[in-house]
Amino acid sequence: MREYSIATIPADGIGPEVIAAGQTVLSNLEIRLGDVKFTFKNFNWGSEYYKRHGVMMPSDGLEQLKKFDAIYFGAVGAPDVPDHVTLWGLRLPICQGFDQYANVRPTKILPGITSPLRNCGIGDLDWVIVRENSEGEYSGHGGRAHRGLPEEVGTEVAIFTRVGVTRIMRYAFKLAQSRPRKLLTVVTKSNAQRHGMVMWDDIACEVAAEFPEVTWDKMLVDAMTVRMTLKPQSLDTIVATNLHADILSDLAGALAGSLGVAPTANIDPERRFPSMFEPIHGSAFDIAGKGIANPIAAFWTAAQMLDHLCERECSARLMRAVERVTGAGILTPDVGGSATTQEVTEAVCDAIHSSNL
Ligand code: IPM
Ligand code: MG
Repeated sequence: MREYSIATIPADGIGPEVIAAGQTVLSNLEIRLGDVKFTFKNFNWGSEYYKRHGVMMPSDGLEQLKKFDAIYFGAVGAPDVPDHVTLWGLRLPICQGFDQYANVRPTKILPGITSPLRNCGIGDLDWVIVRENSEGEYSGHGGRAHRGLPEEVGTEVAIFTRVGVTRIMRYAFKLAQSRPRKLLTVVTKSNAQRHGMVMWDDIACEVAAEFPEVTWDKMLVDAMTVRMTLKPQSLDTIVATNLHADILSDLAGALAGSLGVAPTANIDPERRFPSMFEPIHGSAFDIAGKGIANPIAAFWTAAQMLDHLCERECSARLMRAVERVTGAGILTPDVGGSATTQEVTEAVCDAIHSSNL
């Protein structure tokens, strides 16, 4: 029996609903496969915790999480707590504290989901965006002086280090090499930003020499939005800075038909710390508690978690089950259906148990 301990942090809004759905699906995989076991420990950190304790998680939070094999995360953000507080109080300290420097965001048009690119004859869109997740524009460097005065100044400094850029570049080239098309696009803004971004280009060239099988090219981020929209089939693996990839992954989600189904993995490739898996969609307070949150992103990121734990068959079975259910039109309202979270979850569980999956 292979056993994994998973820390769950459902947090805010629809987070608890989709993480509970994900746990149900993982428990059904456990029953179906018989040789794998998941134990969950729940952490009630997030905006409610903040309102009671003045912090998003306890000061020894990372210490508590360290011993788990993975972290399964819902969403943070509440209407009555500033976004930078929720972000810098929980999700970023985990990503940065555990050096989860590779943020991996796959994009596919799932069966049954309608993409705005549907009339373009693009066939299957299949991308992975690798987002630098430890530095860049999210380094938290900067400040404000002379607050409220006419001469007030604010700086937001992007930090790019040779270590940080080299390791994400290597991760991206390696991932590109492992995929059938062996194709990588390196995104920057090295025409206008002539220091850190030119260093990205230089390091991409250096790392490329280690991966002769990978075909790669460079794109400026503005032109990249056009290429993603008009020539989506020319792309496969994409690597970009923290902020550029944040923006491009929203576009990718929209082009695939819905940000509501998009997953993300915050990975420590060296496996010194647990990696963290979460849906991209956020807390969606407008539909929280209504039972209609789309659990697909939480399922897809659970599949990423299983891959990271080297449970490849388990992961593949889960994705086949998800695709069967979306393909059958069992969808929540955000993607044009009328099913509830529970109905989609039950359908995925049924598919997991089916003998012809
Ligand atoms: C994402 C989100 C976050 C980010 C927000 C919630 C701060 O947009 O995961 O893409 O920018 O990292
Ligand atoms: Mg984003």
